[in-house]
Amino acid sequence: MPLYAHITGWGMAVPETVLTNLELEKIVETSNDWIISHSGIHERRIADESQTTSSLASDAAIKALEMANVHPSNVDLLIVATSSPDQIFPSTASIVQDKIGANKAGAFDLSAACTGFIYALETASNAIRSGSIQSALVIGAETLSRFINWQDRNTCILFGDGAGAFVLQARETPGGFLASILRSDGSGADLLSLPAGGSKIPATEKTVKNGQHYIQMKGREVFRFATRVMAQSTLEVIQKANLQLEDIQLIVPHQANQRIIETAAKSLNLPLEKFVVNIEHYGNTSTASIPIAICEAVQNNRIKAGDKIVCVAFGAGLTWGAAAIQWSEPLPTKRKIYPSRYRWLVRLRSTWLRWWRHIEGWIWGK
Ligand code: UT7
Repeated sequence: MPLYAHITGWGMAVPETVLTNLELEKIVETSNDWIISHSGIHERRIADESQTTSSLASDAAIKALEMANVHPSNVDLLIVATSSPDQIFPSTASIVQDKIGANKAGAFDLSAACTGFIYALETASNAIRSGSIQSALVIGAETLSRFINWQDRNTCILFGDGAGAFVLQARETPGGFLASILRSDGSGADLLSLPAGGSKIPATEKTVKNGQHYIQMKGREVFRFATRVMAQSTLEVIQKANLQLEDIQLIVPHQANQRIIETAAKSLNLPLEKFVVNIEHYGNTSTASIPIAICEAVQNNRIKAGDKIVCVAFGAGLTWGAAAIQWSEPLPTKRKIYPSRYRWLVRLRSTWLRWWRHIEGWIWGK
């Protein structure tokens, strides 16, 4: 029997702190009107000092697991798509694995910028469809506010923090993840980047003085590229899934700029109502924007079990891609599982493992 990868749980987490355009007016030379008319953004969420990419990712993951009724220790694979990991290494996925108690999961980060969630969905779905694993947790999480130059009005108005997570499970019933297309063009690497802190330009006093540890973007070029690939990728993935545009109930685009979404709608000859747009509240949360938009659309009854949707994204790399999904619902189970209630136990386990390492070191050291 062929296997299908169904999305059986979903959850999102955003920081409570809201940064409005009016507040930004006080920090940098911009205006509420300019930001709204050029991007559609009214406000964005900013992580407080205690929050990190891994903490937002873990909060979203716990909600997704709770909905899917899956115990963290039954997760086989955990992927965190992010461009703002807690550290270069270890992977944020490993930190999340420890934070949620997914003690039998392989864990790794996936770096494909704002397209990362689609790349991660494709990777996890293929592992499930091949029969290699039964369940996966796919998370898109960002705290890009930590890499923003608040004096650069070209970038600081755009980005926000947040996370969204999906639980994927193997089923024999057709549906779930239907098809995807993934693309990349590294010749556009300089259009959107964070130049310093990697092996090419290690962090030094000079890189910090030059602001090379901040996001740098050629906005107009990225805009042109985005408007080219959004409609085209949507049509390509629909064709790959053997569907027609009319079969698609809703399109969930990466929330980068309302004008980019409107251009895509025009190119596809579709009304804007066919698109999920929540950029006004969150800004561009990069790879978290699609799962967050989907969580809200499901909550607002715009996506129901059986609906066919297309997610489409673009970002640094350059990367772009799209996924066609037939929406599912949580699998029926006999016993309700509450992963959030085990969080203290998971912390205790992690503390114990750290202590045990100390004790081992002490014994072997002697
Ligand atoms: O996830 C992928 C991430 N990136 C993107 O998706 C970004 C794609 N690009 C964009 O969304 C748009 O290019 C922006 C919103 C970033 C900028 O909008 P634009 O319509 O392309 O503006 P522009 O860069 O062409 O700038 C127009 C004018 C310039 O002034 P001059 O040179 O015409 O006098 C800018 O200096 O607007 C000025 N400007 C601003 N003014 C007020 C640029 N940023 C601001 C600002 N407030 N925040």
